Amino acid sequence: MNDHDFRNFKITRDSQGVLTAAFDLPGRSVNVFDESVISELHRLVEGLAADPTVRLVVFTSAKPTGFIAGADIRGIQALQTREEAELVSSLGQQLFEKIEHLPMPTLAVVRGVCLGGGLEFALACRFRAACDDSRTRLGFPEVELGLLPGWGGTQRLPQLIGLAAALPMILEGRKLSARKALGAGLVDLASPPETFDADVARLVADLLAGRAPARRTPGVLARCRDQTRLGQWFVLNFVRQKIAGPGKSYPALPAALDAVQRGLWAGRAAGLAAEHQAFARLLFTPTCRNLIELFFARERARSSASWVKTAAAESRPVERVAVIGAGVMGAGIAQLAAFQGLQVVLKDVQQEFVAAGMQRIREQLEESTARGQLTAAEAAARLAAITPCTDWSAVAAADVAIEAVVEQESVKCDVFRELDQRLPPGAVLTSNTSALSIQHLAEATGRPDRTAGLHFFNPVHRMQLVEVVRTAATSEDTIGILVGLVRQLGKTPVVVADSPGFLVNRILFPYLDEAVRMVCEGAAADAIDREIRRFGMPMGPLELLDQVGLDVAAHVARSLAPLSNDPGPTPERLAAMAARGWLGRKSGCGFYHYANGHRGKPAVFPATPGGAPRVAAPGAALAGLSPTSERLVLLFINEAARCLGEQIVEEPWVIDLAMVLGTGFAPFRGGPLRCADAWGVAAVADRLEQLRQTWGARFAPSATLQTMREAGLHFFAASAEPLPNAPVEIAGRVGPP
Ligand code: NAI
Repeated sequence: MNDHDFRNFKITRDSQGVLTAAFDLPGRSVNVFDESVISELHRLVEGLAADPTVRLVVFTSAKPTGFIAGADIRGIQALQTREEAELVSSLGQQLFEKIEHLPMPTLAVVRGVCLGGGLEFALACRFRAACDDSRTRLGFPEVELGLLPGWGGTQRLPQLIGLAAALPMILEGRKLSARKALGAGLVDLASPPETFDADVARLVADLLAGRAPARRTPGVLARCRDQTRLGQWFVLNFVRQKIAGPGKSYPALPAALDAVQRGLWAGRAAGLAAEHQAFARLLFTPTCRNLIELFFARERARSSASWVKTAAAESRPVERVAVIGAGVMGAGIAQLAAFQGLQVVLKDVQQEFVAAGMQRIREQLEESTARGQLTAAEAAARLAAITPCTDWSAVAAADVAIEAVVEQESVKCDVFRELDQRLPPGAVLTSNTSALSIQHLAEATGRPDRTAGLHFFNPVHRMQLVEVVRTAATSEDTIGILVGLVRQLGKTPVVVADSPGFLVNRILFPYLDEAVRMVCEGAAADAIDREIRRFGMPMGPLELLDQVGLDVAAHVARSLAPLSNDPGPTPERLAAMAARGWLGRKSGCGFYHYANGHRGKPAVFPATPGGAPRVAAPGAALAGLSPTSERLVLLFINEAARCLGEQIVEEPWVIDLAMVLGTGFAPFRGGPLRCADAWGVAAVADRLEQLRQTWGARFAPSATLQTMREAGLHFFAASAEPLPNAPVEIAGRVGPP
């Protein structure tokens, strides 16, 4: 074997017989498996099997970004037939079988991400070491793409760590830190960055001396559960019931469970066959196609080039942010910025408010430490990076200010005036407002070109999306800096125009409004929410309103109501509920009662204003939807189309991505506009017309839908193409019954 004959691996040998293969895919920032890597690895492994001088092989990465991020998804998406897909899966399986059966010990040394095919590779090695830092994550994100691990992951993981621990990783995409992975028995060594190299060297010396690291022996209960047929039957049955509902929309879930079960009960060969057959079948389902499109949309959103058209636009990294307002959102944003390594100043008007914000941040960091995302030392350093204060002097050094004070224009304008005077001319001023005009705030400053909206969602640490709101005056440089900042914060930016509700709340509002109208008509909140969860939303509109807070919702409803061509009872109803102290989850009562944080029965509001009698619109509901979900979802789609027509954003993929990330819109459906394409734009517009006759002018199809109907257009070019080997599955029917 010629060590210099590899493009993707740097091969080195030492005098002890240790061969190190450092993966370094040329021209890419992260390591991924593509065809050339797989075929090169086959060659490398064959060479190793025939090389008696090699006593131990270390597989590692030469990239600072991590070990291996998985398979190249572009390559996977480009596969044309089931046969091709099955071949890719079985070639990978054969490769990893070969690695597993190499005559010498093999060790995967993991720093940073070790995901998907990367983890399957590590699992095929005899030993694994992982660096215990905040970047290192081991997991199987395949289900998020509608797939299952297709290179033996469903077989080796349960074998190594036990069935009960493996299933959440395979079915939920749960990722483990190095420390958690050590506890689960997934790695043999986890140690902090300072000692990692020395610890790995010691492990290598031990392995050369024939001393394998001790592995945790499972307790009696775990053995009964994971290793006896009866225990496995219980676990599999329990999980099968749990995934029965979501499994109808996400067919990868039952398929992965089936592959795991076959491996356990019919042997490795049967398990691997189930795995590669399922991989090839799943790849051509609408669910998988939609999830892959969303994955690429996210990548696109994270690239500055998607938003900034001038090549010369600034994109310097932000080092210091000032967050004004230490409430729910301000504390969340400050915590996130510090977590991602920025210097933060957190300002509020009184010491006690700042202290309350800092306490919230401390608790959040403690949670991250408990989850293994940060070591105690890292958490302490993050906390120390935040300077709490009540005066303006400390904010003067910030590159970007993020205002998150109370939602009152006059208060916010005062803050903007102050920031404008204090911060250097190049600094960017932003507001986290939900509904106020960014242009009005910008007018309070002498730098409208350096002013924009930066709209985070609640809870900040969990929600992926941030809307970057541009006015007519916002400069390209400012957008470039903010898109970069959102990326630094580990979130996904979408750049939207300054208009009431921006993009996400604007599209969401008619849908929430309709749900409240239904309640006013006498429908039960839980029946409405159940219908829409069946469609695929993570929670119903009324549960969502209770979570947001009915006082906040009443405020948003009041400011968005003037935009409606068909005013209804929602703003008054929400205001009346809020006035009675029915604020939703936080007050224990809203559309539902709450006890100990758990949702109870729907609450019956005494003064129900009369509404139209509840009759279904004539004609068949669209795509097998129920009358309730049809009313809600079609308004969602109609408003999404209207936003596109008004150029709140320029392209349909932005809307779909924003609604999936910002509201949880059924990801397997790809987003509201992909839904419209799947059902047919003309069918959607026609049905809206019918609903308009029953329910009122708010259902009138938007000008965009009408124009598209007339011209026979789709939102997405590709959706006109039939999928190769696509199973007969109609998008409207894939949801649970
Ligand atoms: P909050 O009421 O929890 O916090 C506001 C904080 O601002 C308070 O601590 C208050 O003392 C402080 N404050 C008021 N005037 C100030 C001033 N002049 N200087 C410094 N601090 C000042 O409010 P929350 O929920 O954090 O909202 C803040 C902003 O974020 C609002 O504009 C809101 O519309 C927006 N937003 C809220 C979301 C939510 O779900 N709560 C979601 C997205 C945006």
